[in-house]
Parts: sequence; structure tokens; C-alpha cells
Amino acid sequence: MKESLSPGVWRLEAGEPLPAWVTRLDRTAFGAPWKAPADHEVLWLIPELAFARWACIQAAGEAELLRIAVSPEARGQGLGRKLLEACQQDLAEAGMVQLFLEVRAANAPAIGLYWACGWKPVGLRPGYYPDGEDAALYQRVAPEVH
Ligand SMILES: CC(C)(COP(=O)(O)OP(=O)(O)OC[C@H]1O[C@@H](n2cnc3c(N)ncnc32)[C@H](O)[C@@H]1OP(=O)(O)O)[C@@H](O)C(=O)NCCC(=O)NCCS
Repeated sequence: MKESLSPGVWRLEAGEPLPAWVTRLDRTAFGAPWKAPADHEVLWLIPELAFARWACIQAAGEAELLRIAVSPEARGQGLGRKLLEACQQDLAEAGMVQLFLEVRAANAPAIGLYWACGWKPVGLRPGYYPDGEDAALYQRVAPEVH
């Protein structure tokens, strides 16, 4: 693991095992844990408290946020914002300035976080999830390329 540009936030890349707490939080937040990061994936971590998993397409200058979660007892204290801003800073530094994500349309805490971090809605996938909920698509373009 390497420390990110933001103190207290760490980066875990392909080939590194997932810490047990990430698997536990993944299960708590999403029902099923994901595997260790694949070649194009990077996780940012606030140890024991929060993780964000991204798929990166470095050559295209793009990255997609696949999952972000904060431990239930630590939510609402700014950790999600700290983590997401750290990811955005590291990604911009590496040339990935076009960021994308999809989120359940009714996930108010996540959508609040994305707006707070400069993301904007760009589309909708009606009935995208297996239970019929819509997916909202969001994008963030790093300010320095405007
Ligand atoms: C979404 C999530 C990561 C937010 O993390 P968090 O640490 O609680 O968020 P923060 O405390 O940093 O809040 C940042 C901003 O998000 C918004 N926000 C946070 N919780 C919110 C809530 N319950 N309702 C509405 N907006 C909320 C606010 O705009 C907040 O800014 P503010 O503090 O200036 O008001 C967290 O709720 C979580 O882990 N949810 C379960 C997993 C999930 O749904 N992930 C997203 C889909 S991949």
C-alpha cells in the first residue's frame, strides 16, 4: 500500500490482497464482497473505516467509481468526502480527469456526497438494477481542464 497525496488515505493496487476489514465492510454495505483488485482497479482506503474502488483507464484519462463505503458507525462525519476528494486528487495527478459513476436513484446519502464533491447528473438507466430501481449516471470533470 502507498499513502495518497492526502494524509491518512492509502492506495491499494492490483496484486495486493484485500484487508479483511474491506471485505467485511463490502459485505455490510453491498451484501456481497468483491475480489482483490484486478489489473485496472485501484482502491483508496481510510484504514478500518472506509474504502473506494475505482476502474481506471489511464490511456483515456478516465476512471469509474465502482463502490464507495464508510463504516455504518462512522457515517455523517466527513469521511466519505475526505476519501472521495483524495481519490479525485490522486486521479487528476495521474491524468485521469474524466470521472464517471452510476448510483441507485434513491440513494440520497451517496447522491448528496457526489454533489458535495462536484459531480453532476448526466443520464439515467431506467430499471437498471435487478429490483427495478433506476441507475442515475454522474460525471465529474476536474476543474483544471475546463
Ligand atoms: C454514501 C456514503 C459513502 C457517504 O459517506 P459519509 O462519510 O457518511 O459522508 P460525509 O459525512 O462525508 O458527507 C459528505 C456529504 O454527503 C452528503 N450526505 C452524507 N450523508 C447524507 C445523508 N444521509 N443524506 C443526504 N446527504 C448526505 C452531504 O451533502 C454531506 O455534506 P455535508 O456534510 O456538507 O452536509 C455512506 O453513506 C455509505 O457508506 N453508504 C453505504 C454505501 C453506499 O451506498 N455507497 C454508494 C454507492 S457505491
